[in-house]
Amino acid sequence: MKPIFLIGYMGCGKSTMGRALSAFINKELIDLDHFIEARYHRSVKEIFAEYGEDEFRKIERNMLHEVAEFEDVIIACGGGTPCYFDNIEYMNEKGMTVFLNASLEALMRRLSTAKAKSKRPIIADKNNDELAQFITEALEKRMPYYSKAKLVFDSGYLEDNIQIHNSVEALSKMLTEE
Ligand code: S3P
Repeated sequence: MKPIFLIGYMGCGKSTMGRALSAFINKELIDLDHFIEARYHRSVKEIFAEYGEDEFRKIERNMLHEVAEFEDVIIACGGGTPCYFDNIEYMNEKGMTVFLNASLEALMRRLSTAKAKSKRPIIADKNNDELAQFITEALEKRMPYYSKAKLVFDSGYLEDNIQIHNSVEALSKMLTEE
């Protein structure tokens, strides 16, 4: 099986859906952020602080090219991964791309917690009003890239195990129909 790339904005459920899909279809999950962190022995937050975002994007592209060569894997990308260089076209060539689409309300619910912010340097210092504004503007810029994915899946309903199970079952069905 060619890789399945899960893409979408921070908080759209790439990690949650990735873990659940991995268990459901019995394929390994690779979280691109974690893959980068293991290789560089630094958190994404530290890479941003030490090298800056431009350098992070180069690292992210290089690591994407490594993991895209693996077979039988699900790759949970970072929120920005498809939006830099030719990454989205590259992923479309290499495998199946799924855009996990969640509403602004769902994204705000998931990203406005201190825990969610602390892991993500891009939103770490924003209050809730600033965060809502920031997400709205970012989605406008990023949607042209996200919408190039081969499949779009509504990931607005991941609030408990039943919703997660139902979502994964539906996505898995869509994937087998492709
Ligand atoms: C980013 C999203 C993060 C991480 C980095 C940048 C972005 O990944 O790659 O902080 O630009 O949207 P998640 O979407 O997994 O939080």
